[in-house]
Amino acid sequence: MSAMRHLLDLCKRRGFLFQSAEIHGGLRGAYDYGPLGVELKRNVSQEWWNSMVYQRSDVVGIDTAIITPPAVLKTSGHVDQFTDEMVDSRLSKERFRPDKAPALKLIEQDKILPISAPDKVTAKAWEHDIRTQFAKGALITRKGKEILLQVARMEKDKIVLKKDSAAGAAATIEPTDLHIPYHGYVDPNSNSPFLTESRPFNLMFKTYLDPIDPIDKVITTTLDAQKNPSTSDLTSTRQLVDKTLHPSLTYLRPETAQGVFINYATVQRSHPHLKIPFGIAQIGKSFRNEIRLEHAIFRTPEFEQMELEFFVAPWQAEEQFVAWRKFRMDWWRYYGRNHDRIRERAHAQDELAHYSSGCVDVEYLFPWGWGEVEGIANRGDFDLSKHSEATGIKLQYTDAILMQERQAREKATGVKETSVEALARERFTPHVVESSCGLNRAMLALMLDAMEVVDEQGKVIPFPGEGDNNTTTSENAIVSKGVRTIMRLHPRLAPVKVGIMPLISNNKDLVELCTGISQSLRQELQVNVSLETQSTTIGKRYYRMDEIGTPWCVTVDFESLQDRMVTIRERDTGEQRRVSAEEVVEIVRDGLRL
Ligand code: GAP
Repeated sequence: MSAMRHLLDLCKRRGFLFQSAEIHGGLRGAYDYGPLGVELKRNVSQEWWNSMVYQRSDVVGIDTAIITPPAVLKTSGHVDQFTDEMVDSRLSKERFRPDKAPALKLIEQDKILPISAPDKVTAKAWEHDIRTQFAKGALITRKGKEILLQVARMEKDKIVLKKDSAAGAAATIEPTDLHIPYHGYVDPNSNSPFLTESRPFNLMFKTYLDPIDPIDKVITTTLDAQKNPSTSDLTSTRQLVDKTLHPSLTYLRPETAQGVFINYATVQRSHPHLKIPFGIAQIGKSFRNEIRLEHAIFRTPEFEQMELEFFVAPWQAEEQFVAWRKFRMDWWRYYGRNHDRIRERAHAQDELAHYSSGCVDVEYLFPWGWGEVEGIANRGDFDLSKHSEATGIKLQYTDAILMQERQAREKATGVKETSVEALARERFTPHVVESSCGLNRAMLALMLDAMEVVDEQGKVIPFPGEGDNNTTTSENAIVSKGVRTIMRLHPRLAPVKVGIMPLISNNKDLVELCTGISQSLRQELQVNVSLETQSTTIGKRYYRMDEIGTPWCVTVDFESLQDRMVTIRERDTGEQRRVSAEEVVEIVRDGLRL
């Protein structure tokens, strides 16, 4: 069983994560966070907020609207440029023969390998090859992948082709096994299942603030247009429909950042003590019509972002970019355990947005390979300049001290100072250094990072495809008897901080003492505590707490009723000691300190 499968099973079984609307058949890409998931998500975002806002004097928070008028997103470039590629498809029943079709060859750098050749290619190159050669913009479905895996097998981030050359001939994939993101215009005369060159489609969700159903408006406009010869062609009708719908058109924001940029001036005016460099942080939902939904909460249409926009003088931008990269990597290393699974990847020149002079992705080594969890970018003055141009409102920063000093000098000398350079240091459009982290992705990475499966002796069992090259863990080893999971989450992230358990679950006196201890923890530390009163052995209850990452367990036994001493057990060491009921609060308080 892969690490991801193991984690998703655990998440469902223990109440971290559920498929949304499951009782109605579920909705692809939509997830609900259960009682433990919501705690973990809140803790991750709280730790981010603590480090970005509370522990600094130069950052304030904001919470802006999700529904966004088109003007904002037109200005930011999202209306015209926030796109993915699609092709039109007629989904024919034509068959691909992987052994015959030149398309199904695998490329490693410039080397073309026939499908039956035993060799290794990276999964990325393989998928890229399928997408560019089979059908531009097409993605392969799970079923399609299964068929192709008859001739190859996946190993972590590698595809290893099977040695048996006959296997290549056996696999047949139909176009319907390729997921074409969009089914548009169909040319009935074409033999090709993929008709068009790929073309862009916008990733933003539109919505209409109007009590009249937009479909009714479209129908009325279209029928009217058809009656009029000057508007009856498709292009003119389309323009009319757009015009009719435009007054009520809004978008669900695709990032939280724009809400910050459009509030730069309001925040600055209301907080005049904020001197550049300063930042505005926001945590909130964003929406993208992602065609490629993958790896559960890794990529979904609805997700949460934790973003910081740090406003700096142009001459501070590079230095601040470097400083923020370090600051954020330190955060990741503090909450993560496996430092070799987190890295920075600098964007190549051709990956950079035209206005950006530097961007790095913070990447985590997921079970399927390295994946972005955060982007840190030096965005120049693009954002404020664009919103300023579009609105005519100056979004600038004035250094009041420099200005007053100049004015005093001018008064004393009677000479007006006109040096362009000096004036540009006094008043300028701030540059932005951004840190943009996906909350759901961060949560997934931190859970995978914390999850360990151990055998009865406590020895770690690597998941298949993990560990050193000599260890090939079998699928069964992970689920065999005596094997258990420990989620070694940082105590501040753990959804339940303390599991409190009476030795005998239905003994009234024991339960009463447990309730008392749990109440003092709740009231004094404001933490989530779980009273574990199931009628299983204490050992099993400890393991259940380990599995969800609870750092401490407290057991109350009959002696405790006499001397108010209880057993406290630590998740990571398994160490147990007797302490007074009052000391429990102090131990937990201490353990939760940063
Ligand atoms: N303001 C910059 C911005 O939004 P981005 O790289 O598009 O940059 C930032 O997104 C982060 O948001 C990503 O690193 C990722 O963690 C998260 N993210 C983006 N799209 C996502 C999706 N569809 N599902 C989950 N997380 C996503």
